[in-house]
Amino acid sequence: LIPLWLDCDVGHDDALAMILAAHHPNLTLLGVSSVSGNASIERTTANAIRILQVAGVQGIKVYRGAAKPLVKPVYHATNIHGESGIDGTQLLPEPDYDRYFVNGVNAVNAMREAIMSSADPISVVAVGPLTNIALLVSTYPEVIPRIRTLSIMGGAIGLGNTTSAAEFNIFCDPEAAQIVLSAGIEHVALVPLEVTHTVLSTAAIIKRIENEVESPKFAQLISELLHYFGSTYRDVFGAKDGAPLHDPVAVAYLFMPESFSKRKIRVEVDCTIGLSRGRTHCDVWAKTETDTNCWLTTAVDVEKFWDHMIATMNIASRL
Ligand code: BDR
Ligand code: CA
Repeated sequence: LIPLWLDCDVGHDDALAMILAAHHPNLTLLGVSSVSGNASIERTTANAIRILQVAGVQGIKVYRGAAKPLVKPVYHATNIHGESGIDGTQLLPEPDYDRYFVNGVNAVNAMREAIMSSADPISVVAVGPLTNIALLVSTYPEVIPRIRTLSIMGGAIGLGNTTSAAEFNIFCDPEAAQIVLSAGIEHVALVPLEVTHTVLSTAAIIKRIENEVESPKFAQLISELLHYFGSTYRDVFGAKDGAPLHDPVAVAYLFMPESFSKRKIRVEVDCTIGLSRGRTHCDVWAKTETDTNCWLTTAVDVEKFWDHMIATMNIASRL
């Protein structure tokens, strides 16, 4: 079993990343931290709790993380995820803070504790702005050699989705992303837009979920979330085939790394003020003669991903 920590800004696709992290048979989820991103920290924290509840997760807590990026003002993706961060369904419960939330322990300290107290190195999956992870590695550098894999959903080789240059997670907190990429973590995997845009929640996939997930209510919840996500992607990007399911792909990297194409390269984040702020410069052709710092993923086995994702939804639906 692969022990992991999930840092997220829930979020439609974050919600499915949580389900995959909590219930995939090869993974052991140790904790969840929230970060400001798709919505405010209050909302992303509440949403993380609501997803644990509805997915029948036992014994896992949510820790509140950074309320704003290191340098930039807060920026939310209301146009994609709605005001709540996870609009489009009435099937999510009110958050049960008593059961799922640890008040007074910051996410960064909770992560440090989990990483340092574990006998085996822990993997971290980060699917929101990288603020918490940057604070973790700069405040507690002793965690760096104890992180087995850091899998990040973020960045783009080419076009951004928030500006023409920048992908949302990196755009929100470019300084944090640069700190994380240059921290010296042994195995960093970057799952950029070029990969996640091959993993579409098409009408056929949503039909499959409705047919294969045993609990009709759970299937309806997922279907409503994916329909809403698809509709905002249609409005904002003109997407015709449903929304890309970005975040769970970074979780899948942990249990099916052989199903990704990847190359070890140098990635630098543009932290200058201007049109390219937040751009991930992927030195695919090794032009800068600097050391490599991450595994840039370039493709994933989409069918295999969906088989795992839907099977794991089904496990959650039975709980
Ligand atoms: C990323 O931005 C967020 O809106 C999604 O949750 C994902 O993490 C995609 O650019
Ligand atoms: Ca996210």
